[in-house]
Amino acid sequence: MKALILCGGKGTRLRPLTYTMAKQLIPVANKPIIQIVIEQVRDAGIRDIGIVISPETGEQVQKAIGNGARWDAGIHYILQSEPGGLAHAVKSARLFLEDYPFLMFLGDNLIQGGVSQSVKDFMNSSNEAMIHLKEVADPSRFGVAVLGDNKKVVRLIEKPAEPPSNLAMVGIYLFRPAIHRAIDRIKPSWRGELEITDAIQAMIESGNPVEAKILEGWWLDTGKKDDILEANRVVLDEYTRPVCNGQVDRRSRVVGRVAIGAGSKVVNSVIRGPAVLGENVMIEDSFIGPYTALGNESVLENVSIEHSVVLNNCCLKNVERIEDSLIGSNARVSRVMDQRRAVRIFLGDDSEVLI
Ligand code: TTP
Repeated sequence: MKALILCGGKGTRLRPLTYTMAKQLIPVANKPIIQIVIEQVRDAGIRDIGIVISPETGEQVQKAIGNGARWDAGIHYILQSEPGGLAHAVKSARLFLEDYPFLMFLGDNLIQGGVSQSVKDFMNSSNEAMIHLKEVADPSRFGVAVLGDNKKVVRLIEKPAEPPSNLAMVGIYLFRPAIHRAIDRIKPSWRGELEITDAIQAMIESGNPVEAKILEGWWLDTGKKDDILEANRVVLDEYTRPVCNGQVDRRSRVVGRVAIGAGSKVVNSVIRGPAVLGENVMIEDSFIGPYTALGNESVLENVSIEHSVVLNNCCLKNVERIEDSLIGSNARVSRVMDQRRAVRIFLGDDSEVLI
């Protein structure tokens, strides 16, 4: 069994962050999303992992993830020449996949509980494909499935105006080699992409059984800013353990599950978990509220912040209340202590500021 993790794509909905970093490297609870994906793949016993990368961010992904030795796995990188769709990514990885069955995992999706059981169930079945579904309130944003008897998939429709069910397709799939023949038969969709939904539909139409597994636990698709904040909330809630490798002075209070990284200092401040501080973070005269993740080397002075993700090396000063925010590396946010009430901003393309 092999695994294929998709880390290409354009990431347009996460601009401006994705101008300088791969979406899959954005951290939740201070861990890059793709790292959580790799751990789940490895926990399912798969050691032969291919990562699909794009020409724009591929080098960055390779540098961050390496050759897989730290997970006792082999990681191979596969360059997808253009973001031609999920089925195009599989096509690009044809040489790596050979005729092995494989787990395909979108590098920006996370699910509760991992994929071990699904991998076992699939390997014990004779189905050509297994997809994962989750009941959602707004199915028209997703690929939607119609099921027949025994959880077999009858039909898949991409972003239907009138959804025939509330079962959305999750970005985790298991395939046997019939998928390659199906991909060879499909044409690009209206948006110019080779869609994996169309390829699975083609498999169904040619009589290959496709099974569905309905997820009970959470599913996070981290395509937009609010999705990252939600993923950060859920992952902090589930995984944060209290640990302090830094220093907290006697005037500070750390309440609940808070992880403080090496070299970090907390002075005259309150931190209420679940929250995580990276390494060499400096906090002074501040309040760090629940569901906040602060990246390495960041400095916060006289700030109140909660339900936010701050990447590395940021400087936040004298800001009364920051909430629901995603702040990229090396960003500066401060209130100037003068009488003028002007807002002075220096923003990258496609940024958003709500005042
Ligand atoms: P999407 O989120 O559907 O697409 P995107 O990454 O281009 O983002 P946006 O819609 O904001 O522009 O992609 C899902 C996952 O699959 C993501 O991890 C990127 C990956 N992917 C590829 O590897 N190759 C591709 O051709 C596409 C479209 C996506």
